[in-house]
This record gives sequence, C-alpha cells and structure tokens, in this order.
Amino acid sequence: MTTIDVTEATINEAKELRDEFQRFLREYEFGMREVETKISILRDEFTHDHAYNPIEHVKSRLKTPDSIVEKVARRGIEDPDFHRIREEITDIAGVRVTCSFVADVYQLFDLLTQQDDITVRIVKDYIANPKPNGYKSLHAIIEVPVFLSTGPISVPVEVQFRTIAMDFWASLEHKIYYKFSNQVPDHLVESLSDAADAAAELDSRMERLHREAHGVPRRQLDPPPPRIVKV
Ligand code: GTP
Ligand code: MG
Repeated sequence: MTTIDVTEATINEAKELRDEFQRFLREYEFGMREVETKISILRDEFTHDHAYNPIEHVKSRLKTPDSIVEKVARRGIEDPDFHRIREEITDIAGVRVTCSFVADVYQLFDLLTQQDDITVRIVKDYIANPKPNGYKSLHAIIEVPVFLSTGPISVPVEVQFRTIAMDFWASLEHKIYYKFSNQVPDHLVESLSDAADAAAELDSRMERLHREAHGVPRRQLDPPPPRIVKV
C-alpha cells in the first residue's frame, strides 16, 4: 500500500512538472508570436506603402525540452529551476528574419528594436564583426511583453537578421559541422571562410545593382554603421 502511495505521489509530481514545463514553454511561444506579428506588420506596411518588401522569409522555432535540458547541462547550471533557466537560456524562442540586402537588415533591426514596448537585452553584430569562421548575422535578444489573464510578462526572444547570402552560407556551414561532428577538416574550414567572403561580395554587388537600378544617390551606398555590440 505504502509503495502505491509513493508511486502516485511521484506520478503527480511528474505531471505537475510537465504542466509547469508546458506553461513555461507557452510563454515563449506567445512572445515569439508577438515578434512574428510585429515583423509581418512591418513587411505588409512596407509592401503597401513603399511598394517594396525588404523581407525574403521569416522562420521561427521554439527550443525543444530536450535541447533546453542539454543546454542547461552544457552551461553547467547547477540546481536549475524555471527562474534560472529563464535568466540563463535566452534563445528558447527564436525568430530568424532573412532580408534582401544588408541595408534592409539594419533598417528592420532598427524598426523592431526602437518600438516602445521592446527592450533590447543583448546585441551581437556579426555583420560588422564576423565570427572567425566567416559567420555573419545581426543578433538581438529582445524582451517583448505578453498579456496573460494573470497579468503581463516579459518574454526574451532571440532575433537573427541576415541576408539570403548569409543564410545560404550559415545553413551549409551548419550541415558541414553536423556531418563532421564539429571536427571539420582544415581545408573545408578554409573553403568555408572563402565562401563567406564570396557571399559578402555578392551581397554588396547585388545591393549596389539594386540601388543603381532604383536611382539611389551614390553617397547612400556607404555601409551602415555597426550596431552597438554587447556580448
Ligand atoms: P548558442 O549557445 O549556440 O546559442 O550560441 P551563443 O549563446 O554564444 O550565441 P550566438 O549569438 O553566438 O549564436 C546564437 C545562434 O546563432 C546559434 O544558435 C546559431 O543559430 C547562430 N550561429 C552562431 N554562430 C554560428 C556559426 O558559426 N555558424 C552557424 N551556422 N550558425 C551560427
Ligand atoms: Mg542558440
């Protein structure tokens, strides 16, 4: 009898933990949806009012429970509770915005992060300061308010802005790292770095072409200033 009682208690505890985990993840899903809505409003407004769409595609993802647990372990977070996980793991909700040109990347970043209800926690400008392997993108951890029946909460969302060329490079690089279980042969690392340069060159050629076709004055072809990097 006693054994059954303990088992029932254990099962109930497990159910409570599962429910709490689901509630925890739902908050991130809501935050992600708020950011997606903001991006899609900007896209629609651009398309209608400026006859131009700076966004190629938007992809969102929620980290899986397994991946959260794996990252908690990798970060060496001791006695993790939901509060600690919320503080330490800031990419549970992720939105990736792929733009046509580098100027669009910075403009969309500014238009999103300057909104009154958005708080910017961290910015990493890997376009102005690419990673040693050649990785480029503009990352921001932002906090967005979500209004629940119990009151407002602030949800961190990782937003990555990049061009199509940067996205193409990053997805190939990711596949290569996965294929070689992070032990990529030197010659491939070098080729990837060359390919990143070629992608950057293509980005600037395409943007120049686009601007010249639209009669944008030459002085506006200067690269945008880097966004403040907080790492
Ligand atoms: P993670 O622990 O991987 O989340 O990295 P981090 O906390 O140091 O943050 P960072 O801003 O450097 O990277 C966050 C995300 O950017 C990663 O999860 C990837 O989606 C992407 N990323 C960063 N570096 C690379 C890279 O070298 N190659 C590719 N393909 N993606 C990268
Ligand atoms: Mg990540």
